[in-house]
Amino acid sequence: MMHRLKSIKLTCSILLTTLFAQQAFAQAGVTDGPYHNGMVVCATPNASKAGLDILKKGGNAVDAAVAVQFALAVTHPEAGNIGGGGFMVYRSGRGETNTLDFREKASVAASVNMYLDSAGNVIPDMSLNTHKASGVPGSVDGMVEAHKKYGKLKWAELVQPAIDLARNGFKISKRLAGSLNWIGPQFRKLNPGKAYFLKDTKWEEGDLLVQEDLAKTLELIRDKGRDGFYSGKVADEIVAEMKSGKGIISKTDLESYHSVWRKAITGSYKGYKIIAMPPPSSGGVALLQLLHSVEKYPMHRWGHNQDSTVQLIVEAERRVYADRSKYLGDPDFYKVPVDSLLNPVYIDSRMKSFNWSAATPSASIQPGAIVGYESDETTHYSIVDKDGNAVAITTTLNDSFGSKIVVAGAGFILNDEMDDFSSKPGVPNMFGLVGGKANSIQPGKRMLSSMTPTIVEKDGKLFMVVGTPGGSTIITSVFQTILNVIEFDQDMQQAVTSKRFHSQWLPDQVNMERDAIDKAAVDKLTAKGYKIITGGVGGRVDAILVKQDGSYQGGADPRGDDTKLGY
Ligand code: GLY
Repeated sequence: MMHRLKSIKLTCSILLTTLFAQQAFAQAGVTDGPYHNGMVVCATPNASKAGLDILKKGGNAVDAAVAVQFALAVTHPEAGNIGGGGFMVYRSGRGETNTLDFREKASVAASVNMYLDSAGNVIPDMSLNTHKASGVPGSVDGMVEAHKKYGKLKWAELVQPAIDLARNGFKISKRLAGSLNWIGPQFRKLNPGKAYFLKDTKWEEGDLLVQEDLAKTLELIRDKGRDGFYSGKVADEIVAEMKSGKGIISKTDLESYHSVWRKAITGSYKGYKIIAMPPPSSGGVALLQLLHSVEKYPMHRWGHNQDSTVQLIVEAERRVYADRSKYLGDPDFYKVPVDSLLNPVYIDSRMKSFNWSAATPSASIQPGAIVGYESDETTHYSIVDKDGNAVAITTTLNDSFGSKIVVAGAGFILNDEMDDFSSKPGVPNMFGLVGGKANSIQPGKRMLSSMTPTIVEKDGKLFMVVGTPGGSTIITSVFQTILNVIEFDQDMQQAVTSKRFHSQWLPDQVNMERDAIDKAAVDKLTAKGYKIITGGVGGRVDAILVKQDGSYQGGADPRGDDTKLGY
């Protein structure tokens, strides 16, 4: 009876939160459909509109993705970018799958100990807010490659909406105004003599943000494609910016940057097929490990966010993150044992030490014996077109506003993705993640990521497109969103809105959104030795579900300005 009451209370709280989200969407003129022709869910209304307009013009999901990526670079400066990188998971309407790795790379001048002082200690902040913090950006090349392989409309048409948004300006949201006010002092400090993103008075909701230099950079990208960024004026500006701050990215680094098509990794959960990003993302491997770890337990019977469900998920998470710390890195530099990590017998063996009566202390868990790192400010978008082609893209500058360093003249922010490498074995990065040799710095290597763009199939048909920002919490947010739909029968918006929790092996704690679980569950878990911390769960999940009648149902995270648009 108690269990049933708790379940009703929790369901009410989910329904209420969903209701508030629905009211907010209704106010913005956004409805829940049904939509059969296409859908875009991303971090800003302007970028969602840019993507939807492209779909309506006859563009496919990849065309829309290109428009969204560039529009986010303008309207979501915290994470949308041309100065960062990302990953795309693609599934065509006919069921072919592919992934594109446009993750940043270390400069050829990078070296294993570049963030250590003469005593061998990590120099605080050097991999975050300096010119040396940036990896060679991959986003522009990624979009060019994706468009070359799958695009239908003309490239220029896809970049133009972003140019218009940058040149004409757009009205900023309350959230962006708050972010710009908060980050202003750092922009001033790190960009002497530059005026980007600054204002004499406080930013207010509805202020117009105009980015003329960024508009010019985007015009070069529109007119010259890859060459508009990796050579010529913009490349010169990047290298000059580097020289002004002892950065190391060179013309050669830029010219030699290329994104890589990689075979998707796949797994199954209760008959659903999971199509995920392979390394250098840790996301796909970790997600598949997590799903297998919990598959045989009756979570549906226990209920959403009930103490047994939470305990099981947390125990799976600490084992998977322990593996991540040792085995995951750039496959072009380190032999990542993907098959061994995904071997069901191995994953089952990891769960054998799980004991219902007490928490397994993280100190007693080590990476498994078989035959890294990350920010809150990443961004994800999910797109499906009328032919069922689907794109899940997660892209990032790493930290919020990346390194906060804006390329003089070019008007875009550089990433601080180098912090996703392990600067020194065992020393945590900004997400508290630790790593070792697999993710050590090497010239030209890609840093490990947690980004987890994912596509789910049911009975051979597209079922869900999902992903989120949130640094190290990305993997667990995607995991819980999938479970929310498959195990707990939530619709797409509920599954995205539902409160989440997170555990990552080290530190030995469980982070919870406020009221994610009720007090009785907190007490039970605490009594078993779990250290529950309120807060520290990032993530803004943007996802699309294909319903049985073939219509698209969006889930846009109410924690941000995220917007779902369909037609
Ligand atoms: N920088 C965040 C990630 O790649 O996971």
